[in-house]
Amino acid sequence: MATISEIENKLKSVSYPGFTKSIVDFGFVKNIELNDNNVIIDLEITSSAQEVEETLKKDIEKELKMLGLNTVQIIVKKPAAPKQQSNSQSGKNIAPQVKNFVMVSSGKGGVGKSTTSVNLAIALAMQGKKVGLLDADIYGPNIPRMVGFDGAEPEIVGNKVIPFKAYGVEMMSMGNLIDQGQALMWRGAMVMKAITQLLQDIAWSELDVLVIDMPPGTGDAQLTLAQSVPVAAGVNVTTPQHVALDDSRRSLDMFAKLHIPIAGIVENMSGFICPKCQQESDIFGKGTCEELAKQYDTQVIANIPIEPSIREGGDEGKPIVYFYPDSASGKRYLEAASKLWESIEKSNEQGAISNAAIQPTMPAGVSACSPEGQAHKEKQSSSDDSCGCGH
Ligand SMILES: Nc1ncnc2c1ncn2[C@@H]1O[C@H](COP(=O)(O)OP(=O)(O)OP(=O)(O)O)[C@@H](O)[C@H]1O
Ligand SMILES: [Mg+2]
Repeated sequence: MATISEIENKLKSVSYPGFTKSIVDFGFVKNIELNDNNVIIDLEITSSAQEVEETLKKDIEKELKMLGLNTVQIIVKKPAAPKQQSNSQSGKNIAPQVKNFVMVSSGKGGVGKSTTSVNLAIALAMQGKKVGLLDADIYGPNIPRMVGFDGAEPEIVGNKVIPFKAYGVEMMSMGNLIDQGQALMWRGAMVMKAITQLLQDIAWSELDVLVIDMPPGTGDAQLTLAQSVPVAAGVNVTTPQHVALDDSRRSLDMFAKLHIPIAGIVENMSGFICPKCQQESDIFGKGTCEELAKQYDTQVIANIPIEPSIREGGDEGKPIVYFYPDSASGKRYLEAASKLWESIEKSNEQGAISNAAIQPTMPAGVSACSPEGQAHKEKQSSSDDSCGCGH
């Protein structure tokens, strides 16, 4: 009959894979239980890799064989495998110095997407985050005006564009990079190139978060962004009038399709605050977004009323959250920024941020819609009817 000390001696000959030290010397053998020549060994190791566990079991069984034990049971306790992270190898991040990307979207134009992006970005900076604001609305960039950089020409160092600094936030817009009017002519492959360059060729600092104002709708720009960087949060902007229409739903459906965690909905132009008496009145049916939020298992992160000072702030480059943080809307933007940040942190903790599932299946540089792309698709198995864009 074998003894515990004999077993322990044998285990001293089992080295931890990749090391010369034994599992006993490492302190990985936590318990040895011997009953009627049957042994149970408890191991606690530091690697979550399956190969390490298998190698150890094999080596231990080999060593103990000579002791003539009836049964050898090895229980391995190991740390949980790391969850997939946003910058995982399988996904893609072409601007790795940015920790979190936020996509601000709406189904329709003119609902206050840019106003929301500007005020949320500044609110996050006021809460101590390192923030960038990217105006990716290549069809109608209007952020430069809203932060006082309309017509400003950016500095270029080497082959990188230096972002402007406004109200504690780094900012760049296609509006500052090309002549006005040109911005309206983007098509297919050009859209992809423009979005990629805005992420790659701007010298963004190490940022906690980059808030991205998207063009309205759910087109090439959104898909390119989501395939290029892991988007940590989607924010949908809508108004009580638009909520009944399918537009808001389309934008939320798009987040789901692109595997983007939905941080919440901003109900903009929700009620009216009279500049004279500060009374808030409900003119368009405030609160209609609650139902929509429930359907998409998300929350309304702000009800922003129509306040003349929001529009004036936008026109004059003086965002309300910075100049009037104590106003009703200022407070609500700050609260929305906190909720957005909470959602980002939660998604990071859950390992829910990855764009691996939506990577294009075409070879690099080949568009799914080109003749080469079509030929590539035909070569693929007939059961695969993906269009190459991840849908
Ligand atoms: N809550 C608000 N109160 C008053 N004015 C607002 C409010 N939200 C937005 N506006 C104004 O409404 C107009 C449209 O807003 P904004 O430019 O932010 O919308 P958008 O969705 O980005 O539009 P586009 O699709 O044209 O880019 C702007 O003049 C803006 O100042
Ligand atoms: Mg806009």
